[in-house]
Amino acid sequence: MNLLVIIPTYNEIENITKLIRTVFDFIPVNSGILVVDDNSPDGTAKAVEAVIPDYPERLFILNRPEKQGLAAAYLAGFSWGWNGSWDVFLEMDADFSHDPKYIPVMLEQIETHEAVIGSRNIKEGGVEGWSFARNAISKGGSLYSRIVLGCPVMDLTGGFNMWRKSALEKIRLSSIISQGYSFQIEMKYKAYRSGCRIKEIPIIFKDRKQGKSKMSKKIFLEALVNIWKIRNTDKPALGQFLKFLVTGGLGTITNLVIFFLLADMLKFNEIPVSIGCFLIAVTQNYFFNHFWSFSRTTANIKPSFKKWASFVLFSLTGLAVNITVMKLIIINFDVLYKFIAQAFGIAAGMVVNFIFSKTIVFKNKSAK
Ligand code: GDD
Ligand code: MN
Repeated sequence: MNLLVIIPTYNEIENITKLIRTVFDFIPVNSGILVVDDNSPDGTAKAVEAVIPDYPERLFILNRPEKQGLAAAYLAGFSWGWNGSWDVFLEMDADFSHDPKYIPVMLEQIETHEAVIGSRNIKEGGVEGWSFARNAISKGGSLYSRIVLGCPVMDLTGGFNMWRKSALEKIRLSSIISQGYSFQIEMKYKAYRSGCRIKEIPIIFKDRKQGKSKMSKKIFLEALVNIWKIRNTDKPALGQFLKFLVTGGLGTITNLVIFFLLADMLKFNEIPVSIGCFLIAVTQNYFFNHFWSFSRTTANIKPSFKKWASFVLFSLTGLAVNITVMKLIIINFDVLYKFIAQAFGIAAGMVVNFIFSKTIVFKNKSAK
C-alpha cells in the first residue's frame, strides 16, 4: 500500500528536518511525506525545501498563505493527495511527540482495518513530560467527548492517526465543521458513526523538546463547544428541513402582510405587488436560511448576490414543481377540493427547493 504521511507545521524549524529524515527511516519506499506549512514566520518551509532534493518524488511541501488551523491544514493535505496513488494517509505532528517507530505497527494494522489510532489512553499507552494540568485537560477532553458523542474510541483527541482512503470517503471530509483541534475528535466520531473498522494501538506520547505548542485556551474552549455541533452533523437534514419549513412559513407571512398593505390598503395593482412581495419574501428566506437553517454549513461563506440569485431561481423552480404537481393531481385524481392537490404541490416544491438549497446554494465549500 502507498502511504502518504501528512505533517502540518507552524514554526517547527527546530524539528522538521530531523523529523523528515527519521520518518523516512521507518516507512516503505513507495511512501511519501507531505508537509503542509502555513507560511511559518521561522522559515520552516525553506528548511523543508532544502531537503527535497534528498528525497526526489517522495518529499513534498504544500505552502499555504497564512495560519488557518490544524483542520484546514489536514483537509488541504488530504485533497492534495486525493488524486495521487496514495491508499493510506497518516496524520502526525512535527514535534516528535509522535514517535515514528510506531508507523510500521500502524501499517501492519491498516491491512485489516480502515483506521488505526495511536492511543495514549489504552493499556501500554501513555504520556511523558506533560504537566498534571495538561494531562488532565487531555484526559478530561477525551472523556467528555466520549460521553457527549457516545463514541467508544479511548483517545479521541490524539493526532497520530492512519486512515485508509475508504475511511476518509466514509467520513465525508466535506462535512467536517472543525477548524482547530476538535478536528481530531470529529474525524474519529464520523469514522465510528459511518461504520469504519477502527483499531487503537498504544503509543507513548512525549512532550515536545523544541518549539512551542500551538494549543491555547481559546482552541480548547472552541473544542468543547464544537463537540455539540459535531454531535448533530451526522443527521442534520431533518433539523435543517424543519428550519427551512419555518423559514418558508415566515416568508409567506411577510408576503401576505406586504401584499395586504400595498394591494388592499393602498390599492396598487396586484400583479406587480405580488411580484415584489415574492422577491421580498424570497430575500428574507435567503437570509434566514443562510444564518439559521444552514448555519452550520455556511459558517465559512458570506451571503452574496450570486447565491441570492441562485436561491431565487430555485425558489421559482420550486414554484414550477408546485404548479405541475398540483395540476397533475387534479387531472389524474378525482379530488374533492383543489386545495388538497395544492397542498401536495407545495410539499413537492418545498422538497425540491430544499434539496437545491442544501446541495448548491448553502453548500459547505471548505473541502472536497
Ligand atoms: N499548518 C499548520 N497550521 N500546522 C499547525 C497549525 C496550523 O494552524 N497549528 C498547529 N500546527 C501543527 C504544529 O506545528 C504541529 O506539527 C502539530 O500541528 C501539532 O501542534 P502542537 O502545537 O504541537 O499541538 P499539541 O502538542 O499542543 O497537541 C497535540 O496533542 C493534542 C491533544 O492530544 C496534537 O497531536 C493534537 O492533534 C492533539 O489534539
Ligand atoms: Mn505538540
